[in-house]
Amino acid sequence: MRHFLLAILFLAYNSPAQKSTLPIIPQPNEVSIKDGSFTVSPETKIVLRHSESFKADIDWFNDYLEKNYGFRLEFIQSESKMGNFIQFEYPDFEGGFKENYHLDINKARIKITAEGNGSGAFYALQTLVQLLPPQQIKSLKVAPTKKFEVQCCYIEDRPRYQWRGMHLDVCRHFFPVSFIKRYIDLIAAYKMNVFHWHLTEDQGWRIEIKKYPKLTSIGAWRSGTMVGSYKDKKYDTIRYGGFYTQDEIKDVIVYATARHITVVPEIEMPGHSLAAVAAYPWLSCSGKPQEVAKGWGVFDDVYCTKDSTFQFLEDVLTEVIALFPGKYIHIGGDECPKTRWKTCPHCQTLIKKEKLKDEHELQSYFITRIEKFLNSKGKQIIGWDEILEGGLAPNAAVMSWRGTEGGIAAAKQKHNVVMSPGKPCYFDHYQSKNKLTEPLAIGGFNPLDSVYNYNPSPKILNEQETQFIMGAQGNVWTEYILNEKQVEYMAVPRMIALAEVLWTLPENKNFTNFVLRLNKNKFILDMWQVNYAKHFITKIK
Ligand code: ACM
Ligand code: ZN
Repeated sequence: MRHFLLAILFLAYNSPAQKSTLPIIPQPNEVSIKDGSFTVSPETKIVLRHSESFKADIDWFNDYLEKNYGFRLEFIQSESKMGNFIQFEYPDFEGGFKENYHLDINKARIKITAEGNGSGAFYALQTLVQLLPPQQIKSLKVAPTKKFEVQCCYIEDRPRYQWRGMHLDVCRHFFPVSFIKRYIDLIAAYKMNVFHWHLTEDQGWRIEIKKYPKLTSIGAWRSGTMVGSYKDKKYDTIRYGGFYTQDEIKDVIVYATARHITVVPEIEMPGHSLAAVAAYPWLSCSGKPQEVAKGWGVFDDVYCTKDSTFQFLEDVLTEVIALFPGKYIHIGGDECPKTRWKTCPHCQTLIKKEKLKDEHELQSYFITRIEKFLNSKGKQIIGWDEILEGGLAPNAAVMSWRGTEGGIAAAKQKHNVVMSPGKPCYFDHYQSKNKLTEPLAIGGFNPLDSVYNYNPSPKILNEQETQFIMGAQGNVWTEYILNEKQVEYMAVPRMIALAEVLWTLPENKNFTNFVLRLNKNKFILDMWQVNYAKHFITKIK
């Protein structure tokens, strides 16, 4: 009987509900709470030893403290007998653990253990800032409190998946660099590590390409925008657009890198390319003049498969590669109608010359040719799951959006996969059943719990195949998302739920407990004045 009671107590203590006492999201994979607290104040020091390895992360932490709490921490040469310092140590585990961290908070000191050139120390600091109390120095009438207590605890943590992504479509609606940085800060706060930047579309080309200036002087601007629901077919006549200069893109990448986020650019091909065709009509099969699209949808005028188009794309990608240091370039590949190719002499000649069966194989030829080029420059391609049609390019990774079938097929073919099925990873879908109380959205229904309960590794895959699932991603398409506030409303907190899916092992997850933690953790969102959707707040009342 006594053993039984002890077992119950043990289970209760180690249950997700108990772990919830700390407002950390994503839930760390091993956490124990200890007695007492550590005092953080302007007197707290950072021990200089190893600090070179962690300099960028410590700078980030000091910037965060300064912005939100009004002070920075100074360095000391070695551990003080007086205590009250934060120290960084290398782990005794070696190699392959670049995202792992240990965070040990005692009354006397905070010890962070992580690899010197990895992301672990940054994640430890992200965990630490979630343990700090709420404060909003901007709106405080009184001087900010500069002394506060942090719960003592011991955390050993590591992510479940390597690709923890969030996407943003800046083409249907454009968002300035200031907002891109805010978005990066938000996703980094929950230990996500990929920002998928959807830069080209029918409705606008958003990246400066020096060799082809019309891509932005013409392709970045449309003469009107669809208003309201697609079925109404209404447009305004307001010139709309914008783009990022290469200097701005470099600036964003530096910012993201300091937050351990890889920026994956998407340059769409062969479809969703009307803005490029509007700038340079010879890129299409017909060569006829086109306008940058004002409405949403899928358009027939896509890139022709003639050599001059490939030359153009290689030139564009050469500039893209020089900007983006990450391994992956997203080449789109979705929703490419074959209408023009079917009647184009260039395209039909190429089909015969290459002994291709049909236009699907021509698309596969297209992607494979681009893949060869990018591989020769040391990059890997990732594309939407349509790139499976007509045969997958030899090294391509697949982003599965039309359900999970594409991802499953790719994993079985030993290709890397990012899961991003419309249900539940499209955050442009509704998050409440009562659509009348929500801003107009593209459709669908992806509430917070559906996102939270998503498992990116399909049961149907065996253990070996499952290794190819790199992770998952939340997508924010902006046909119906007109401004920054609305991006925040649609992305948060579903992004936070997905962050936990991608970080925390299934056995450590629990939706009720997540909602409890989110209600504590939301002080960070409030501090930053994020316009997050509030449905979860009423859920626990
Ligand atoms: C997509 O949503 N067309 C990838
Ligand atoms: Zn053609």
